Amino acid sequence: MKTFEQKNVYITGGSSGIGLTAAKMLAAEGSNVLVFSRSQGRLDEAVREIEGRRKSEGQRVAAMQLDVSQHEEVNRVMAEAVEQFGVPDLLINCAGKAVPRPFEEISFEQFDDIMRTNFYGCWCTIQALLPHMKKLGGAHIVNVSSMAGFIGVFGYADYGASKFAMMGLSETLRMELKQYNIGVSVLCPPDTDTPGYDLENKTKPPETWEIGKTAKLIEPEVVVRAMLKGIRKGQYMILANAEGWFIYWAKRYVPFVLDSMLDKAVKRAQGKKK
Ligand SMILES: NC(=O)c1ccc[n+]([C@@H]2O[C@H](COP(=O)([O-])OP(=O)(O)OC[C@H]3O[C@@H](n4cnc5c(N)ncnc54)[C@H](OP(=O)(O)O)[C@@H]3O)[C@@H](O)[C@H]2O)c1
Repeated sequence: MKTFEQKNVYITGGSSGIGLTAAKMLAAEGSNVLVFSRSQGRLDEAVREIEGRRKSEGQRVAAMQLDVSQHEEVNRVMAEAVEQFGVPDLLINCAGKAVPRPFEEISFEQFDDIMRTNFYGCWCTIQALLPHMKKLGGAHIVNVSSMAGFIGVFGYADYGASKFAMMGLSETLRMELKQYNIGVSVLCPPDTDTPGYDLENKTKPPETWEIGKTAKLIEPEVVVRAMLKGIRKGQYMILANAEGWFIYWAKRYVPFVLDSMLDKAVKRAQGKKK
């Protein structure tokens, strides 16, 4: 996909943070944008903001209420979306959340909710839209994982499991969907300054804070700029900046160096607690 002009873009989690930033930047590129999330109030506000960023008044901007963790609801809402808005040329699976806690403090209910929202939500959305996207040809899917989707991080047992699962799904789909001319990318942002990140900070254990200090907090615009560039280039793995690429290669080729750096951060935080 070389241009986003006049393309239909669906964004789950498009009412806040990275998803909303993507919606606004794509509207500025000339796309028709449809955002999905649970809170109608936030969706209404998002639509106003996205409309304000349109390149031309002919571009369509709309929102639909959806809880991606509910399988039947995803099927129903996506069928309505295709009928009312048209098939997506670009699908961005961005709905997600993290509630960092040590493994023993994560209830089954929290684990279930994180897996359903982050992983099942992505799975079900793709499953509902794929038959339509196959007919279109030339479509693209971006799954928003995380750097915690390729590095296990203290406090993210449930979140990491959901984001690693997204990597397995994305890698498989990249291979399977090529025959239908559908591109697949996975976006792995580092800590990004969003309302979701602020919420995450409320439960973050000291060890997770200390690990967070090893990478810079970045703005959602930086993440989305990298994503749009990656889609244009047909890139599978998309990282937000040079630091992200450095950490990615370190994890692949010298994992012991990265593990030792992260272990030291955990030890420092635990030392401060004593
Ligand atoms: N910010 C970071 O540091 C960071 C780093 C790496 C990866 N990520 C990933 O990037 C994505 C966006 O994160 P963010 O920080 O931008 O979060 P955010 O500001 O909290 O936005 C999350 C969006 O997802 C929606 N959402 C949450 N649960 C949903 C559900 N069950 N069904 C439908 N929509 C739902 C929210 O709206 P409602 O609550 O109204 O539904 C909101 O629109 C997530 O997948 C996150 O894991 C974020």
